Amino acid sequence: MEQNDALIVGAGSDIGQGIAGVLKKSEEFENIHLVSRNSFDNRSNTNDSILHHYTCDNEKESIREVLEEVFNRGSDITKIFICNGILHSDEVFPERRLEHISADSMERIFRINSIVPMLWLAELINFLSKDLPSVVAVLNARVGSIDDNKLGGWYSYRASKTALNMLLKTTSIEYARRNRMAKLISFHPGTVDTKLSKPFQKNIPKDRIFSTDYAASQLLNIMNSISHDGTLDYLDWKGDKIPW
Ligand SMILES: NC(=O)c1ccc[n+]([C@@H]2O[C@H](COP(=O)([O-])OP(=O)(O)OC[C@H]3O[C@@H](n4cnc5c(N)ncnc54)[C@H](OP(=O)(O)O)[C@@H]3O)[C@@H](O)[C@H]2O)c1
Repeated sequence: MEQNDALIVGAGSDIGQGIAGVLKKSEEFENIHLVSRNSFDNRSNTNDSILHHYTCDNEKESIREVLEEVFNRGSDITKIFICNGILHSDEVFPERRLEHISADSMERIFRINSIVPMLWLAELINFLSKDLPSVVAVLNARVGSIDDNKLGGWYSYRASKTALNMLLKTTSIEYARRNRMAKLISFHPGTVDTKLSKPFQKNIPKDRIFSTDYAASQLLNIMNSISHDGTLDYLDWKGDKIPW
């Protein structure tokens, strides 16, 4: 089997780490490039020879520099995962009512969830192979669906993920014109047992909370069987379409 390379952006995420493990196990990849804001010095996979680590502040200039280093290093990169996204942090917590709306929190969440993935996509177009099919999966969430919003709340997270979909849809139209070999997926992994979902797991049945390995395997299977039709797909972990 011919091996290509994979790139994981936001690789410090629990899901990104799960993806790295699943990609490595699959033996489909010669190199796996991991980009995160922080160094990976104390991670268990630091000495693995097929894993290459890069730090990046997710600003335009440094994104371009990292991509130059990554794409000059190994074989063609055919699978790209963009994992960045926050629901809560020390400073922000998802709003339950209108009184919880804060401009600062909202700006921070939009920056990380909508703008950072877009900055990566804007630079990636100049690096992706025009001969080999590639798939770019961006981690989204079902709560970004306007149709599916029955519960309300989580204003900033929901809206940032909805905005992400519009940015991805618009990008898919330009990608289709400039590189028909590149396919975009907006992916909902289900509820996955990570730092992000921890505070919200108590009302969810145990068997509906997935491991990072399961979510990553489902995504890799979907990416391996997707058709390169120049459109954006908004898919869940089963490969089912989510209404916009
Ligand atoms: N866990 C779930 O149940 C679930 C459900 C639906 C969707 N998702 C989505 O899956 C993705 C990964 O989530 P996770 O559960 O694995 O969460 P996580 O472990 O908390 O990961 C957080 C991610 O956000 C990035 N990030 C945090 N602060 C940032 C900043 N200031 N600037 C840029 N990036 C920043 C991190 O990048 P670094 O690598 O640089 O640290 C990391 O990739 C997210 O997009 C999330 O919305 C998760």
